[in-house]
Amino acid sequence: MGNEKVWQGNTTFILAAAGSAVGLGNIWKFPYMVGSNGGSAFVIIYLICIFAIGLPVMVSEVLIGKYGRKSPINSLKNLSSEFNLNANWKYLGILGALSGVLILSYYSVFAGMSFSYIFNIFPSNLSDPSNYSSNYFKEFSSSPLSLIFWHSLFIIITCFIVGLGVVKGIGRSVNLLMPFLFIFIILVSIYSSFTGDIKSTLKFLFSPDFSAISPQVVISAMGQAFFSLSIGMGAIMAYGAYMPEKQLIGKTVITIIFLDTFVALAAGIAIFPIVFSNPSIEVSAGPGLIFETLPVAFYSLPFGSFFSIIFFILVSIAALSSAISLLEPFTAWMEEKGFINRKFIVVILGILIWFLGLASIFSFNVWSDIKLFNLNFLELLDYLTNNIMLPLGGFFVALFVGWILPNNLINQSLAFGKFRLKLFYFFLKYISTSSIILIFLYSAF
Ligand code: PFF
Repeated sequence: MGNEKVWQGNTTFILAAAGSAVGLGNIWKFPYMVGSNGGSAFVIIYLICIFAIGLPVMVSEVLIGKYGRKSPINSLKNLSSEFNLNANWKYLGILGALSGVLILSYYSVFAGMSFSYIFNIFPSNLSDPSNYSSNYFKEFSSSPLSLIFWHSLFIIITCFIVGLGVVKGIGRSVNLLMPFLFIFIILVSIYSSFTGDIKSTLKFLFSPDFSAISPQVVISAMGQAFFSLSIGMGAIMAYGAYMPEKQLIGKTVITIIFLDTFVALAAGIAIFPIVFSNPSIEVSAGPGLIFETLPVAFYSLPFGSFFSIIFFILVSIAALSSAISLLEPFTAWMEEKGFINRKFIVVILGILIWFLGLASIFSFNVWSDIKLFNLNFLELLDYLTNNIMLPLGGFFVALFVGWILPNNLINQSLAFGKFRLKLFYFFLKYISTSSIILIFLYSAF
C-alpha cells in the first residue's frame, strides 16, 4: 500500500472517525429516542452500552483495520489466512459493507431533509407559526419530488467526496467541516440554555426514573449505541486501515467516544430547552422532533431564525461526515478488486443507493400503508440495520478479536498496560458478547 492512503497527522483520523460517529444519530435520533423511551432511564442504559459494549468493540475494529491495512473484507481475509483461521470471517466484512449501503439509502433521505431546512426560513409576521411548521413538514414529507430532490443532492455530494479519495476527499473534508460542527453545537447549546427552559431539560435528561426501563428500552439503547458509534459495520475498521502507524489505538478511541457522547448530550441540551420553553408545544417523540416541533419553538425565541439556520447547517455537516463513512467500506473493497477506479465505483454505488432510497421516500407517502410486522419499509430497514445487523456485526467483531485472534498480536497492537489489557479482555470476551446475545434473546421472546 502506498502512502497516499494514510491520514495526514493524528487528528485527521480522530476527526474522520468522530465525523463518522457524530451524525443524525446524535442530533436527530438520540434526542427523540430519549423523548420516547422514558428520558433519563434511556440515557443511563445508553451510557452503559457505550462503555461496556461500544468501547471494546470500537477498539477491536480499529485494531483489525490498523493491522490489516485494507478494506474490512480484505483485512479480515488476510488476518484469517495469516493465522490459519476459518476463511468465512470475510463475510463479517461483507455484512458490514452491505449494512453501510442499506443505512445510507435512508440516512440520505433524512440528511436531505436537514439540508432543505437550512433554507426553510419562516416568513415574518406569521399569526400561527405552529401551523406553518407542521404544515411545512407534512407537505414536504408527502411530496416525493421534493424529498427526491434533496436526497439526490445529498447522495451526489457524498459520492463526490468519497470519489476524491481517502486523503484528498474524506481527510480534507473532515478537517474542514468538523471544527464548524463542534463550534456550532456548543453555540446552539449555550443559546438554548439561556433562552429556553434548561431546568426542565436537565431533569428530563438526568433525573433517573428506573421504572421506565423495559426490555424494549434496553434493546433500543443498545441499537442506538452501535449506530451512534458507527460500529458493527466496518466504517471504523475501514478508517482504522488509514491510521498512522504510530498513533495509539486506546487513547484515540476514548477521544472519539468522548466526542460522540458529548455531542449527543449537547444535542439534548440544544433541543429540549427550546422545545420546553413553549408550553403550547408537546414534546413530540419520533422523527418529527427536530423537523416539526423544533422549528416552531425556535420561531418564538429571540434570534430564533438565525439559530435555526445554524442548527440545520450543523445537522447537515454531521450527516455528511457520517455518510461518507457509510460508503467507504464498500468502495474500498471494490477498489481493491482493481477492475474499475474509485470515481466510477462511487457513481455505480451512488445510483444503487439512490434507487434504494426511493423506497424509504415512498414510505412517507405513496407506500405509507404498505406494512410488514406493522412497520413500513423505512421503519423495517431502520430496525433491521440498527437493531439486528449492527449488533450482530459487533458481536462477531468481539468474538473474532476476543476469542479467535492470537493474543500476542492484540497485546502488541494495543500496547496497553497490564491492568487496562485485562479490563479490555474481560469486557470484550465476556461482557460485550454475552450482553449482545442476552439482549437479542430477550427481544426475540
Ligand atoms: N454514527 C452515525 C450517526 O450517529 O448518525 C451513523 C452511522 C455512520 C452508522 C456510519 C454506522 C456507520 F457505519
